[in-house]
Amino acid sequence: MTKEKELLDDIKDEIKTLACDLFKKYQKEAFKDGKNYVKKMEKDIKRWGKLLALGELSKKDFKIMKVLIINGPNINMLGIREPDIYGKDTLETINTKILSEMSENVQLEFFQSNSEAEVIERIQKIAVDKTADALVINPAALTHYSIAIKDALKIIGVPKIEVHLSNIFSREAFRHTSVTASECDAVISGCGWYGYVLAIKQIERKK
Ligand code: DQA
Repeated sequence: MTKEKELLDDIKDEIKTLACDLFKKYQKEAFKDGKNYVKKMEKDIKRWGKLLALGELSKKDFKIMKVLIINGPNINMLGIREPDIYGKDTLETINTKILSEMSENVQLEFFQSNSEAEVIERIQKIAVDKTADALVINPAALTHYSIAIKDALKIIGVPKIEVHLSNIFSREAFRHTSVTASECDAVISGCGWYGYVLAIKQIERKK
């Protein structure tokens, strides 16, 4: 092991955190104070290049991950809909709570539709336009019968996790079957809104 590598090993984690923080800052502020940022960026990039070459940093560490959250039919009625099962939070409140749990590396997009066709089209868009790096989907009632959603999920190659607010296995028998789950990497059911957060954390962990 070279002296340089030995030294870097000691401060590896510190530098890694710092580098990621700086990179995020640059992405947001690069144009505010152009000249100085560019200078500083050049210096840091040289250092990061060295770390990347040594394998101490991976390109993935710098990447903002775009996660699309799709919610299916009737999820827009949360707050009013069966509060004893789904709680009193509206979808908007839930989305705000999810956002507050995200690290800076994650960028979220929310999509809800009561139409099966629109859900399919939004999934297809991921394959065509590469509009998301990962998908978290609560297909709602479509979970239990939509072969069309199942087929759409098969098309996209990004990590995908199915989420249900309620524990579908402790409810009516028709909810025990998910035709979409087998196309997803994991299923989270019964953790309420935090299920979406868990799904994203799992995707980040696996990245
Ligand atoms: C649900 C469970 C489904 O059975 C139901 O049709 C929904 C919501 C959930 O999040 O618990 O609409 O997906």
